[in-house]
Amino acid sequence: MLFQNLTIENATEPVDIRVSDGTFAAIAPKLEPQSGEEVMDCTGKMALPPFVESHVHLDTCMTAGIPRWNMSGTLFEGIQCWEEYKPRLTKQDVRDRVSRAIRMQAANGIQYVRTHVDINDPKLTALETILELREEVRDFMDIQIVAFPQYGILSYPKGAELLEEALKMGADAAGAIPHFEFTREYSVDSLNICFRLAQKYGKLIDIHCDEIDDEASRGLETVATRAYETGMRDMVTASHTTAMHSYNNAYVIRLMRILRMSGMNFVANPCVNIHLGGRTDTYPKRRSLTRVKELTAEGINVSFGSDDIFDPWNPLGNANMRDVVFMGLYAGHMLGYDEIMNSCKFVTTNAARTLHLGDAYGIREGNDANFVILDAPNYYDALNNNAAVLRSYRRGKLIASTKPMEKTVLF
Ligand code: FE2
Repeated sequence: MLFQNLTIENATEPVDIRVSDGTFAAIAPKLEPQSGEEVMDCTGKMALPPFVESHVHLDTCMTAGIPRWNMSGTLFEGIQCWEEYKPRLTKQDVRDRVSRAIRMQAANGIQYVRTHVDINDPKLTALETILELREEVRDFMDIQIVAFPQYGILSYPKGAELLEEALKMGADAAGAIPHFEFTREYSVDSLNICFRLAQKYGKLIDIHCDEIDDEASRGLETVATRAYETGMRDMVTASHTTAMHSYNNAYVIRLMRILRMSGMNFVANPCVNIHLGGRTDTYPKRRSLTRVKELTAEGINVSFGSDDIFDPWNPLGNANMRDVVFMGLYAGHMLGYDEIMNSCKFVTTNAARTLHLGDAYGIREGNDANFVILDAPNYYDALNNNAAVLRSYRRGKLIASTKPMEKTVLF
């Protein structure tokens, strides 16, 4: 199949893309159609590698309002709502909800997902179910699973054993939540356990790190130091790091050195961070977004995630990475022309680095033909006009499509 006149990412000139046998066979201007080849004119449209959701909790998705709504909008009432939901948690319930969320993601052009799954559950019900789904949807979606100890590794009964069991069952990454552990000592020890187990089983690491407005929450320096000293480097990701918003600048200048040296990745969750953050403030209220602009300027890899899809922590989550980028740019003071134009990297190439997708990700000859076509000539317009993801291809096969909305003005 030949796609004509597609602008790849923000290239200045459109090209043609030939897909055959599920791969990008040729990418060049003005390719001659072969006899019998299907041709699609894509003038005025852009192509991107598929969107990458680098931080979401699929196990809690689609539970907003059940059994009740989070009326205060705080993290803690969200946790209470989830506690009240948990008695309904069965494999069938998880399967139904997660299957729906995966299809919402696919409809929005997502083909790679890193989901955190709460493993502070002696039965590991959600983990077992999502491990099954990971295999079932492999032809349409790559799902990475982080074994996420929601209540801590050392502050929850048998937390370390559950984490090890989850990794043995097939989770792709080890998680931790140092800011939620009972003490500073537990915080550091929990990170040591997380790193030891990840190394033992050859897994990635993704830490819920300092997701709190406490300027004294300093899990990040320990994560970065372990990433550096163990040599795990870019296998390690710090998610949220919202406390960094509140750190004093003198400390951040010192911290930046080890962050650079560590080679680790960061994930911010702009919509949920700004929704849940600043809740203990009167006025001014903090935005609670980590320092995306400054980290990016230091050459550190940062991606954006949704965190939650229609659950007690994000009642408006809709599995659309566009909204996440939109909020991230506003809240992060990143609305310069180039910043807007290049912001797709937060949910494409940067997120792919976080997930360790390697050279197999991207629109390049020889790669699997995984890509999306947006109804806009460049990402600036795509973002500004909320352009539809017209088509999503996986190994050359159409897996989702959207018809652009038609608006009529009668004057
Ligand atoms: Fe999260």
